[in-house]
Amino acid sequence: MAGNLGQGINPLVIQQIAQDVAETHKSGVQIGLVIGGGNIFRGVSASAQGMDRASSDYMGMLATVINALALQDALEKEGVPTRVQSAIAMAEIAEPYIRRKAIRHLEKGRIVIFGAGTGNPFFTTDTAASLRAMEINAEIIMKATKVDGIYDKDPAKHSDAVKFDKISYIDVLNRGLQVMDSTAISLCMDHKLPILTFDLMKKGNILKAVTGEKIGTLVH
Ligand code: GTP
Repeated sequence: MAGNLGQGINPLVIQQIAQDVAETHKSGVQIGLVIGGGNIFRGVSASAQGMDRASSDYMGMLATVINALALQDALEKEGVPTRVQSAIAMAEIAEPYIRRKAIRHLEKGRIVIFGAGTGNPFFTTDTAASLRAMEINAEIIMKATKVDGIYDKDPAKHSDAVKFDKISYIDVLNRGLQVMDSTAISLCMDHKLPILTFDLMKKGNILKAVTGEKIGTLVH
């Protein structure tokens, strides 16, 4: 969301994401979005610097709601109807998270943006995404990120890093690959929910991912 600004919200980045999501939505798939808040506040880093972990996680959850509202605005500018649901009650700003209502919104062709993580500290956005995916009976969870897939070692540091096309959940856990945190991976593994990770910033990638083109890495 920050793009080259480093932090905050870069309008060009959010517009590109919204255009890609809107194009994908036109193909008729139902989409739920879960967004993090690291561009505004990173709970884990703050707690590493001595802040109480629960407090910093709550601040991070609030940051995700700011991003959710920004994304809603950008998506609606692209003509996509959206609803934001928050795991932390803030009725003046967003609907509360209600599972059955979220599913109904999806059936009516709206994109649902899930904000405020799981509503609990100590759980990451990845875990929130895995949980929501299972709750809405999603077929797949797609982690759109800065890297174009999963490598055996950090591709930024090692030129001989090899990308996986597919990898099992247990391999991800055993090799300690930084795809999603272990709680999120375990949750997906237990419920056989496939995870596709791919590069968000390449235009058209979301549609490619949804239509089954070979991009990124599939964890299954
Ligand atoms: P259906 O009528 O069931 O198709 O869904 P709907 O979302 O259009 O109807 P609803 O009357 O629930 O919502 C109308 C608008 O109010 C939508 O933009 C909702 O996102 C918003 N809304 C609904 N409940 C809340 C809430 O508790 N807080 C906030 N801030 N907005 C809400």
